[in-house]
This record gives sequence, C-alpha cells and structure tokens, in this order.
Amino acid sequence: DWTMAEFRDAKIAEIRSQVGKGKVICGLSGGVDSSVAALLIHEAIGDQLTCVFVDGGILRAGEAEQVVGLFRGHYNIPLVHVQAQTLFMNGLAGVTDPEAKRKFIGKTFIDVFEAEAKKIGGAEFLAQGTLYPDVIESVSFTGGPSVTIKSHHNVGGLPERMNMKLVEPLRELFKDEVRALGRELGLPDVFVGRHPFPGPGLAIRIPGEVTQERCDILRKADAVYLEEIRNAGLYDAIWQAFAVLLPVRTVGVMGDGRTYDHVLALRAVTSTDGMTAEVFDFPSDFLPRVATRIVNEVKGVNRVVYDYTSKPPGTIEWE
Ligand code: XMP
Repeated sequence: DWTMAEFRDAKIAEIRSQVGKGKVICGLSGGVDSSVAALLIHEAIGDQLTCVFVDGGILRAGEAEQVVGLFRGHYNIPLVHVQAQTLFMNGLAGVTDPEAKRKFIGKTFIDVFEAEAKKIGGAEFLAQGTLYPDVIESVSFTGGPSVTIKSHHNVGGLPERMNMKLVEPLRELFKDEVRALGRELGLPDVFVGRHPFPGPGLAIRIPGEVTQERCDILRKADAVYLEEIRNAGLYDAIWQAFAVLLPVRTVGVMGDGRTYDHVLALRAVTSTDGMTAEVFDFPSDFLPRVATRIVNEVKGVNRVVYDYTSKPPGTIEWE
C-alpha cells in the first residue's frame, strides 16, 4: 500500500527518467489536476518546466487571476498566459455538436502549446493532469458496451498528429488521491478543494452555438451561483456545481415590461470520483434566492431551473 509521500517520490524519479534534460510544457486549466501535475513535475525537473495557461474565453470568472497569481506569485514557476479569446471564439462559431466542440478545443489547445513550445526553444514533452476516470470514461463506460460517452479532451480529444510526447503522472489516480497528493505538495487548501472543471470549459455548458456574448452571460450567472454556495458554507459538501445556459428563450415579465430571454439551468452533484453522481439537495430557501438574484443581476437570463438528474442516467455535464 502506497503512501502519498512514496507515490510522490516514485513519480518524481519516473518523470526525471522520462524527460532527461528535455523541456516540458504543462497546460494549466485552473483545476486541481493540472495544478498538481505541474507542481509534481516542477519538483522533479525545476525550470525545465514551463506552464502555459490559455484563456480561450471559456473560463469561469476570476480564474485567470487566480491561476496566474498562484503559479507566478506564490510558486514562482514560469508561466505563459496566452490570450486566445478570438482564436477560440472564431473557431467555435457555428459549432453545435458537443464532440465537435471538444475536438476543436482540444486541437486548438495543442496548437497553442506547440507554438509556445517553439518559443521556448523547443519542448518535446507535453504534461497533462489526466486522471484514471478520464482514461476509462474516454474509452468505455463502466459496465456498459464499449462506446465513447465523451472524449474528455485531455485524453480522447487529442489530435492524432501531435509532435510532443505526453507526460501524465496522475494517470493511475482518482480525484481524492490527487487532492491528497496536492496537500502533500503543499498546494493551498482553496486550490486542493476546487470543484472539477472540464478542459473545454464553459463551451460544453452552452448547448448549441458558443458565442462571446453567451459565455459572458454564463460566466456572470455561474459566479452568482458559486458565490451563494460559498456564502452558505456549502462549497465543500458539493462535488461540482455550475450553471448551464440553454439555447431556449422564454417569456417573462419584469417591472411593467415583457422579457424574452435565455433559460439557465443550475446543477449541483455529490460524487466521490465523478463516475457516478447524486443530485445535491439544497436547503429549501437556497435555490429561490439564487434564481431571484440571477434574474435580477444577469441580463439575458429570465428563468432559472434546477437539474434533478443523477449520473447515470445523466452525465454531470450537459454535453
Ligand atoms: P461527465 O459529464 O462525463 O463528467 O459525467 C465527469 C467529470 O469529467 C468532467 N468532464 C471533462 N473534463 N474534459 C475534461 O477535462 C472534458 O471534455 C470533460 N467532460 C466532462 C466533468 O466536469 C466531470 O467532473
């Protein structure tokens, strides 16, 4: 039976022997997995590692500031912050199929990483925070027929032709183990405890076409929802909570006027590994308060609904 300290030491040795004197690019998403992967690799090879954080306009509110602050400010680990909103929004225009969104986003991340690899004089390795459930769920659904449910972009969504070799030190771990490893590595509690966030970000929380305007609406609504969850002291009791902006508009009334705006769905689930999930039961006054705040504060949304589907038969994300 491994302790996390032993696991860390074994992985550090493994990373050193895989990478040698080579350079490594690590794509940071803002989530726990890629943060832990980056810290572990940095312990192994120091400044042979460059972290790349891509802002494609599909991040949550405040995310870029938090990640840049942690890695540059707190750890002093080299970090390139790439502004790629236009690139992502142009490429997502007209794309409505969930797997097509993942494919485009996965490929575009790799394009950006390869460009950054060149800029630092050539990096032959790409590090990712791929976990065990990402590996299995991208291949087949547990207990079911061998069919891809979703190509989680840090596994199945990678383009076939990629010039860099993968470094994936967390491939055998489940989320709770990654969190334990993060603690072992001294990652601050607020980061260790963060809800999972998918690589394709807000793009797979906007069924239908993703536009800058829709991302902005969703980002605002999601921030209100999470703020209320934190204020209520519920954040750590939930595996993942987020809002989904639906491509459906409904009629409402505000003041003495008619509105015709988007429906927003709220989701919150408990889980231990993301493979199955139960709907989180909020105290009865919570959701009405959030719904009122969102409709009042977020222009473009006039109706809020709550998703009561467990996984299975639903998945956690809507796409
Ligand atoms: P689902 O929606 O498949 O999600 O029940 C299980 C967990 O995986 C996350 N997820 C993703 N993560 N790229 C990722 O990096 C993806 O394409 C992706 N799709 C889902 C999801 O947020 C949940 O934590």
